[in-house]
Amino acid sequence: MIFSTTFFAHALFATSVVALSNREHFANSPDDVESENWGGAVLTADTGTYTSIRADFVLSVPTARFQPDTECASVWVGIDGYNDCESAILQTGIYLCVLNTTVTYTAWYEFFPAGAINFDSDDITFSEGDSVTLSATVSTPTSGTLTVTNNSKNITVSQFVTSTTELCQNSAEWIIEQGFSDFIDFPDFHTVVFTGASASSSSGVVQTPVDATIVDLVSLNLFDQITTTIVEGDTVNITFIGPPTGLD
Ligand SMILES: *[C@@H]1O[C@H](CO)[C@@H](O)[C@H](O)[C@H]1NC(C)=O
Ligand SMILES: *[C@@H]1O[C@H](CO)[C@@H](O)[C@H](O)[C@H]1NC(C)=O
Ligand SMILES: *[C@@H]1O[C@H](CO)[C@@H](O)[C@H](O)[C@H]1NC(C)=O
Ligand SMILES: *[C@@H]1O[C@H](CO)[C@@H](O)[C@H](O)[C@H]1NC(C)=O
Repeated sequence: MIFSTTFFAHALFATSVVALSNREHFANSPDDVESENWGGAVLTADTGTYTSIRADFVLSVPTARFQPDTECASVWVGIDGYNDCESAILQTGIYLCVLNTTVTYTAWYEFFPAGAINFDSDDITFSEGDSVTLSATVSTPTSGTLTVTNNSKNITVSQFVTSTTELCQNSAEWIIEQGFSDFIDFPDFHTVVFTGASASSSSGVVQTPVDATIVDLVSLNLFDQITTTIVEGDTVNITFIGPPTGLD
């Protein structure tokens, strides 16, 4: 999927942005990072650290904000989406899409810079309330496996992928991302709660998101905070707090 690695340090905009309607109300931590396409939690470490990431979550029912257009949010886990290693990202997730009141879920995998590829819907489908497991596992810096499981029916799809560009393995992230390039296509996904979230490293250490950097998704005009994220133990709770409709 289209991917932007543009991040803003919160402090950078603290004095230059005046109309912080929602953001003032929700009082970001000054340590939060703002992004125009991501919200969630990110672990960072030295190059060559992360070998896998996983989490479970329950499929929420997104609510359309701008019907009659399709709106999508993408829920994913990945390695190297957030760092100075912009050459490769190993990631897998599910698009939560809504057109008026019709909701669809589609599982996908990606080894950026190659684009996202949908898993075959004959192999795995989803319904509201399904428990899903996402995982990305590095084999070598240029190969890995992306796996999605529908726990409610014990069905797994898995794809081994290779790339010509190398992973750095220095970030691991649990993310909700705008489905498209513009904020107006983003639905109210209510809450996505990743549970059992962990990232493993080459030394065998398993890390929870406890010390993660929180990334707040903000609107392109920077006036509205769209997501807020709470990390507790192995849980990452990402909640939609954006305006119900339209750009402020
Ligand atoms: C979605 O709702 C709009 C009215 O809000 C209607 O015009 C349109 O036909 C609907 N689209 C579908 C696919 O149902
Ligand atoms: C996943 O599980 C749900 C039951 O919660 C079921 O409705 C759906 O069809 C399942 N998908 C597959 C591919 O089995
Ligand atoms: C899930 O499926 C796997 C094989 O695909 C099987 O080994 C396992 O026992 C199943 N678990 C449950 C709870 O049915
Ligand atoms: C997630 O966080 C929101 C507040 O941001 C809270 O209302 C909700 O209960 C939390 N859900 C879980 C499962 O922790």
